[in-house]
Amino acid sequence: MAIPSLHIRPGHPDFLDLPWQLPIDEWQGGRLVDMPTGVHRHPIVFAAYNDAIYAIKELNAGLAEHEFETLRTLEGRTARSAKPAGLVKRPWLDPSEEGAGAVITRYVDYAFPYRELISGAGFGGRRDQMLDAFAGLLVELHLAGCFWGDCSLSNVLYRFDAGAIETIMVDAETASLYDSISDGRRRHDLEIMEENLAGGMADIAAAAGEGLDQADLEIGIDITKRYEGLWEELNDDLVIAPSERYLIRRRIERLNDLGFAVDDIDVVPDGTDNRVRISVWVGGRAFHANRLRELTSIEASENQARHILSDLARHEARHGRFDSPAGKTVTIMQWRAERFEPFTQRISELRPGFNPVQGYTDFLNYRYQRAVEAGHDVESQATFDAWLHAGMPGFQPQ
Ligand SMILES: Nc1ncnc2c1ncn2[C@@H]1O[C@H](COP(=O)(O)OP(=O)(O)OP(=O)(O)O)[C@@H](O)[C@H]1O
Ligand SMILES: [Mg+2]
Repeated sequence: MAIPSLHIRPGHPDFLDLPWQLPIDEWQGGRLVDMPTGVHRHPIVFAAYNDAIYAIKELNAGLAEHEFETLRTLEGRTARSAKPAGLVKRPWLDPSEEGAGAVITRYVDYAFPYRELISGAGFGGRRDQMLDAFAGLLVELHLAGCFWGDCSLSNVLYRFDAGAIETIMVDAETASLYDSISDGRRRHDLEIMEENLAGGMADIAAAAGEGLDQADLEIGIDITKRYEGLWEELNDDLVIAPSERYLIRRRIERLNDLGFAVDDIDVVPDGTDNRVRISVWVGGRAFHANRLRELTSIEASENQARHILSDLARHEARHGRFDSPAGKTVTIMQWRAERFEPFTQRISELRPGFNPVQGYTDFLNYRYQRAVEAGHDVESQATFDAWLHAGMPGFQPQ
């Protein structure tokens, strides 16, 4: 029997039980599960193991190796790309043959393809969320030195992130990595995105039975505008006088508000009037997610974390113990035990398969709206029950 060569990253199954001697579209039963996907050319299947589901995609050996290596390097640079679990080669096939290689990635939990966000001929009330999502994804990949070369609706996975949409790059076949990406490559990547999205929107309109005049062909151009604004904001150097150091702090706070953590700050003389030039190096968009993990070890996406941190601050203000340095830790543990855990557990019981952390932020948003209506804070337990009773409404897109 033909035995493939398997290169597996630690923490994943060995995948040896899969019938590699057959092409994946002839695989049957057992571990295979049906999952929704975007539009794609290569065969792809999903296999369920105890701890996770994996996506397995067949391509030629060279491309498989390139995609695996790219995803592996990207994993160390950004959280916005699919996590590679293994590279498979079938040495009995010619390397240039489709199927001579396969890339295994971990299925992105709670993610879904763009189809689920469509309303009518476009993205309806979610258009604005999509602009932010795509602009933010490209900014983060470019900060990580990644030229994508094929940013499209189908090469991205989507996840609800409180009132926003989080996007994750899944297809890295065409990507190339640099220490830092040139302006020319960024421009080129944006042009590819604009073209791919126009094509995608034309397909969506056609599938909705609408003509091209109803298609949102400009969506990519609007994403580029939003991208440029964000890129500028992140990369704009600050030139200040020695007495204006407060401006550095203001800039860092602004970047943190946007969700970006600041990795390093360079201060160099600007040559004129004693002024200095400040360059801020930003990491990924995970400022609040990192903070929440440090405080509570809860895993959440950036906007979910932002909402949960406000809930924690509210809880501290009401029930906080400020009598000892350990008081803060005790308050956080109480909040987890009495609020976060029981509420998310209830959400999981009522809606299996739905991300309970997203559910919790849906509840927080509901509680906020009830408080605005009432003109004063509302009690959490009663409001949680009311939210369940109302059918667990989520964030309404504008
Ligand atoms: N790790 C993953 N988690 C969840 N879904 C995934 C994952 N990897 C791939 N998919 C789904 O499978 C689809 C196809 O994957 P991918 O884009 O890598 O295939 P492809 O054939 O190389 O695409 P293309 O035609 O753009 O070259 C994606 O649209 C996505 O919906
Ligand atoms: Mg693809």
